[in-house]
Amino acid sequence: MQVSKLLAGLFACAVSFGAYAQQPIVIKFSHVVAADTPKGKAAEMFAKKAGELTKGKVKVEVYANSTLYKDKEEMEALQLGAVQMLAPSLAKFGPLGVKEFEVFDLPYIFDNYDDLHKVTNGPVGKKLLSKLEPKGISGLAFWDNGFKSFSANTPIRTPDDLRGKKLRIQSSKVLEEEVRALKALPQVMAFSEVYQALQTGVVDGTENPISNLYTQKMHEVQKHLTLTEHGYLGYAVIVNKKFWDGLPADVRGQLEKAMEESTRYANQIAKVENDGALDMVKKSGKTEVHVPTTQERAAFKKVLVPVHKKMESRIGKETIDAVYKATGFDPAKL
Ligand code: LMR
Repeated sequence: MQVSKLLAGLFACAVSFGAYAQQPIVIKFSHVVAADTPKGKAAEMFAKKAGELTKGKVKVEVYANSTLYKDKEEMEALQLGAVQMLAPSLAKFGPLGVKEFEVFDLPYIFDNYDDLHKVTNGPVGKKLLSKLEPKGISGLAFWDNGFKSFSANTPIRTPDDLRGKKLRIQSSKVLEEEVRALKALPQVMAFSEVYQALQTGVVDGTENPISNLYTQKMHEVQKHLTLTEHGYLGYAVIVNKKFWDGLPADVRGQLEKAMEESTRYANQIAKVENDGALDMVKKSGKTEVHVPTTQERAAFKKVLVPVHKKMESRIGKETIDAVYKATGFDPAKL
């Protein structure tokens, strides 16, 4: 009796020591925006859910605001295995050689989130994510942010108001062409450097979903914002494939569940966060916000939609057509 009690005690002790001694699997999740954005909040949600669902077997460390890597470096770090998870914007996959992702950058290709989701939640989205595999990357999900608007220090009413201006863009050839269509000068720059570049006049203006503009305080150095909503900015959540495939199957399954839940959350909050940021920009009184009239919007479309055709050979007609088919977009009907 005594001996069996002792043995049971020793066994319990060994089990708890074993659990204590086992180090959690660490996932470093690096990103470039503020914690208080759709992506920042969704990354935190993933960290929380991953911890809960794996019962502490996985610890997700989130590094916001480019504190670990800036956007170009983070892609390299992921491929080298220095970080395990990222959520770069869809405009940042071109330099990796996956040019099809730039379809998301085509001006006015999505009228609203519903159209976007027909692509990201459907077979086209799935196919796009699968194109990352040969690069040593697995694509897990699409996370929403929002629609980009132009800002500058002078009013923007017509495309011509941007002529000759230096505009910061993400590293996408489609965005370069978009800016050229406006007769403006594209300047590719890491996100972490944009505020200072605007402040010092290295660039004159930029394009952002409002959550990014506001949380980086760009509105403090941009006097005018026109709600052109001319293009979409969102994310693909990606992991180092070798790391992901090497996880124990049960842990991977729990992480997939955590990803599903945080994706649902990300896509629920994206519009609300952007609307809230717009209110804050208006309240700040630092930036004049202009809502384009129907005619003004039509004038931007007229100049920017031809970028689709121009970029066909880069993105691939098949990918563009698949998106048109999913959303019902017809460039001839503008
Ligand atoms: C940008 O560089 O403007 C964005 O991609 C930043 C982000 O991750 O939302």
